[in-house]
Amino acid sequence: MNPTLADKIAHAPKAELHIHIEGSLEPELIFELAKRNNVKLAYDSIEALRAAYAFTDLQSFLDIYYAGASVLLTEQDFYDMTMAYVERALEDHVAHTEIFFDPQTHTERGVSIATAVAGIEGALAEAETRGLSSRLILCFLRHLSEEDALATFDEALPLFDKYAHRLIGVGLDSSERGHPPSKFERVFAKARERGLKLVAHAGEEGPPSYVYEALDLLKVDRVDHGVRSIEDAQLVARLADERIALTVCPLSNLKLCVFDDMTKHTLKDLLDQGVRVMINSDDPAYFGGYVNANYFAVVDALKLSDKEVYTLLRNSLEASFVSAEERDGMIARLDAHWKQ
Ligand code: HPA
Ligand code: ZN
Repeated sequence: MNPTLADKIAHAPKAELHIHIEGSLEPELIFELAKRNNVKLAYDSIEALRAAYAFTDLQSFLDIYYAGASVLLTEQDFYDMTMAYVERALEDHVAHTEIFFDPQTHTERGVSIATAVAGIEGALAEAETRGLSSRLILCFLRHLSEEDALATFDEALPLFDKYAHRLIGVGLDSSERGHPPSKFERVFAKARERGLKLVAHAGEEGPPSYVYEALDLLKVDRVDHGVRSIEDAQLVARLADERIALTVCPLSNLKLCVFDDMTKHTLKDLLDQGVRVMINSDDPAYFGGYVNANYFAVVDALKLSDKEVYTLLRNSLEASFVSAEERDGMIARLDAHWKQ
C-alpha cells in the first residue's frame, strides 16, 4: 500500500462497532489475571497459549476464547481488560467504539453482570475524558437456550436503567451454525419494547437465511459480519436499499477460515453493490491485529482506492448509535483529515 494512504488511514478518526471486549484480552494479561486470581490455565506459558491460536473455524476459536475469559473474576479485572483495549483504540485513532460483552460467560462462573459492567464502565468513563466515546452492547450466547437468554435479560434490567448512557443495546454471538436468530425472537422483542438497539452476528459461518432472520424476526439495526450475504443477490440488493450496515472483520474472517485468502474477501463486492460495510477487529488479541491492522490488511489485499477507504471510514461513523449531532461532528473531523 502506498505509505501516504497507510498514514491517512492510521490517523483518520474512525468508529469501531464490532469488538468483543473479552476478545481484547492479550495472553500477557490472561496470565497476569490468572496469577492474581489463582485460576489454573490449561497452558503453562504465554508462548504455549499463543501457539494454540491456530484456528480452523469459529468453534475452534470460541473454545479458547471462553477459556481465556475464565480469568476474569473481579470488577478490577474487567476494568484492566477494558483499559488495555482503550489504550489500543486511542493509538488507532478510534473516536467512537461500541463494545460487546458476553455476560453468560461470566455468570456461569458466579460473576454477576453488575460486576462486569461496573468494571467496563469505569474504564469507558475514563476513556471519555481522553477523547474516546463509547457504548456497550450486551450479547446473548446463541449456543445456550432461549430461557437462559431471557433470564440474562431479566438480570440485566436494572443495569439498562443505571447505565442508560452506556448500555444501549443487545446482540447475539457465539456458535452460529445450528443456532439461527429465530431461536431468540422473544428476547429480542423484549429488548425492542424497551427501546434498546439491536444487533446480531449473522452470515459469518451461517447461511444468508440467517441474515434474513436477523432482519425480519429480530429486526436488528445492524448485522455483525454478514459477509455470506453475497451468496444471495436479492439480499445484497435489500441491504443496499435499506442502508443496513454490516460490521465486517477481515482478520477474523481470515483466521477463522471464512475466506482462505484475504484476496478472496467479499468486502469490495459488497461495497461495489452499495452495501454499508465498515471495518472492525472482532477479537483483536486472537486474530492478529487491532482495527488499523484490519484496514491495512484488506486495503492491501483488495487494492482499495483512496475513495473506497474514505467510504469505509465514513460508513463506520454513519452506522454508529450516536446522536445525529455527534455523528455529524465526527464526520466533519474525518472530512477535514481526509482533505489534508
Ligand atoms: N463470532 C461469533 N461469536 C463470537 C465471535 C465471532 O466472531 N467473537 C466472539 N464471539
Ligand atoms: Zn464478533
